[in-house]
Amino acid sequence: MKAARIALRTAVPLAGTSGVNSSRAVPREVEQFSRYSPSPLSIKQLLDFGSTNGCERTSFAFLRQELPVRFANILREIDLLPDKLQSTPSVQLVKSWYMQSLKELVEFHHKNPDDQKVLSEFIDTLIRVRNRHHDVVPTMAQGVIEYKDTFKVDPVTNQNIQYFLDRFYMSRISTRMLMNQHTLLFDDKSGSGHPRHIGSIDPCCDVVEVVNDAYESAKMLCDQYYLTSPELKLNQVNGKHPGEPINIVYVPSHLFHMLFELFKNSMRATVEFQENSPSLSPVEVTVVLGQEDLAIKISDRGGGVPVRKIEQLFSYMYSTAPRPRMDDGRNTPLAGFGYGLPISRLYAKYFQGDLNLYSICGYGTDAIIYLKALSTESIEKLPVFNKSSSKRYQATSEADDWCVPSKDPKNLSKQSATV
Ligand SMILES: Nc1ncnc2c1ncn2[C@@H]1O[C@H](COP(=O)(O)OP(=O)(O)OP(=O)(O)O)[C@@H](O)[C@H]1O
Ligand SMILES: [Mg+2]
Repeated sequence: MKAARIALRTAVPLAGTSGVNSSRAVPREVEQFSRYSPSPLSIKQLLDFGSTNGCERTSFAFLRQELPVRFANILREIDLLPDKLQSTPSVQLVKSWYMQSLKELVEFHHKNPDDQKVLSEFIDTLIRVRNRHHDVVPTMAQGVIEYKDTFKVDPVTNQNIQYFLDRFYMSRISTRMLMNQHTLLFDDKSGSGHPRHIGSIDPCCDVVEVVNDAYESAKMLCDQYYLTSPELKLNQVNGKHPGEPINIVYVPSHLFHMLFELFKNSMRATVEFQENSPSLSPVEVTVVLGQEDLAIKISDRGGGVPVRKIEQLFSYMYSTAPRPRMDDGRNTPLAGFGYGLPISRLYAKYFQGDLNLYSICGYGTDAIIYLKALSTESIEKLPVFNKSSSKRYQATSEADDWCVPSKDPKNLSKQSATV
């Protein structure tokens, strides 16, 4: 299976890719490691690394290969972005971070996994890589803003950037997850963390507790900004084991991130839409555990969004909120780059879940997070650089295969009279 996949992807020519600088040479390490497909892990496998039969040596051997593979795969896709976006200082900076980290990790291929000193050097390197990549999201966002402000972005380029950023940020979520697991499990200096957690995974994640935490954090911001906030109304149904609390094997920080973003959006919409009401409608949350899925629905009465705009809300190029300042690291604004929804959807998709918005314009919005109920089905969803992904960047603007309605309808009565 893997061999077939590798064969498919070895000879992807960059030459001839429209709007792409084809003369740029691919560095040796990138060429070498982008020949391999990333290997997705399930939450169950991640747990096994941290259990009694998992060891630091095995995790080291896996990561020194897998992290360069994931970095190299996504570096190849950066090369397929439009030249003018690639040449922005921000994208150049991000690329240099990836190159540097790739090189530092590849160094460990020549080192002995049985040497304790090597293992602790590896941990230091992972921490350095993680710190180096800390600002990747706002820096990339800055690059996109610079590009969008300078050049008129056509729908095809917009679509390509959306496609790239979804894959780029997903790759980043995955590499952070792997690096965090290793350092949390094997770095004696990092402290023991939560006693129940295996790295960043909670084998018994209490979903309702995370809902309450995320609500409280968003409420604090909302109160600060608007001096008021909607209440929370919570319903839970355990369809799998009726009457029992709802627990899943999951990464609580990922779940918190998604819920926090959705609560911020619902609160902002509710307060702004109901500004003249004597009291605010609550935000209603329904948590349901089924045989296959865990679903969390967040419903608000914040006036909703026209259906025409729903897709735009997941776009990295769109936000209705004023832009935050780049250097303003201290305050978390209630609305920022417009990345709340797209990044939250990536977190949901990362372990094969999803996040959808259903809105009724003039009334309110339901946002639903779907997660896999079983840890064996929660498997990383990872981008792979191959012919199919390269092709996506070559799409050109073609005529629509559906009629485009004219703004001024034809005057049929006049037309028939002249026939
Ligand atoms: N529940 C909602 N009701 C009404 N509009 C919403 C709702 N959720 C999102 N939106 C609209 O979708 C836009 C995009 O949301 P998103 O969370 O992605 O970005 P943002 O809130 O603008 O910024 P941030 O990056 O801080 O989240 C919002 O600006 C808002 O106009
Ligand atoms: Mg938001």
